[in-house]
Amino acid sequence: MPADDAPFRALILGDVVGRPGREAVLKLVPGLRREHAVDLVIANVENAASGSGITPGLFRSLARAGIDLMTLGDHSWKRKENLEVLQREPRALRPHNYPPEALGTGATVLEGISGEKVGFVTVLGRIFMEPVDCPFRTIDRALAEFPADVRIRIVEVHAEATSEKISIGWYLDGRVTCVFGTHTHVPTADERVLPKGTAYISDLGMTGPYDGVIGRTIEPVLHKFITSMHATFTVAEGNARLCGILVDIDRKGGKAIALRRVDIPAGGRDNPSAGPPLPPIQEAAGGVPEAPPASETEG
Ligand SMILES: [Fe+2]
Ligand SMILES: [Fe+2]
Repeated sequence: MPADDAPFRALILGDVVGRPGREAVLKLVPGLRREHAVDLVIANVENAASGSGITPGLFRSLARAGIDLMTLGDHSWKRKENLEVLQREPRALRPHNYPPEALGTGATVLEGISGEKVGFVTVLGRIFMEPVDCPFRTIDRALAEFPADVRIRIVEVHAEATSEKISIGWYLDGRVTCVFGTHTHVPTADERVLPKGTAYISDLGMTGPYDGVIGRTIEPVLHKFITSMHATFTVAEGNARLCGILVDIDRKGGKAIALRRVDIPAGGRDNPSAGPPLPPIQEAAGGVPEAPPASETEG
């Protein structure tokens, strides 16, 4: 059991894409957990199986590598094995703003994670995405259902538009611990702790092959752009990297203390280097925000 004043540390990984992404997780996550005293690992896995979805076997192997909670985004219904995973695995989530009749859920409270409870909700954005319920109201409803003693609250926004993600970040500042974006597969450099103590980043980037077009082999994508003709996309292979964030969290108040981006080459044919060691996590400007009164955290 960690000391009461040691921060709670979460490692959150962007979309795991295909075999290169899965191999990056298997190779790097166990060491990252150990070396950085990580308490909780979350990953979006919507592209883990051949670029779309997840299977029960892949879920188990990623869980064994140290991922505690896995989410599916707009690929949730694109592979039949996803349904099996959502049905069987309480730690597999799909976006919460799909219709309530849809299989699975997008909100959960994890218990006993290094002695803490962690509330988590994932939503889809609505700009340039398929129609779903309002993400703002969906998050509000999910937060209201978390017990008041769930201080650590993390929100994923799986969305195309940075404006929508940033708006959700400001909407939730001070009410949740962390808001992070996924789906575009391109990491953004806007990570920060917002003024009221919410860690924020617009997109984690993917854990997958960067010598491609958001994880797909370049040539068929170019062919489609140039000719408008159909092309079959396959998962790219080169320059696999593990991307995401490390977030340090005040256990008592559930506020973010600091966050830093993680971008580590996975090695192999294209990346002989295992990557430099991670420097110490940087404190947010202004230090640790005060814990809020209880009434403010019941959101
Ligand atoms: Fe997506
Ligand atoms: Fe994705």
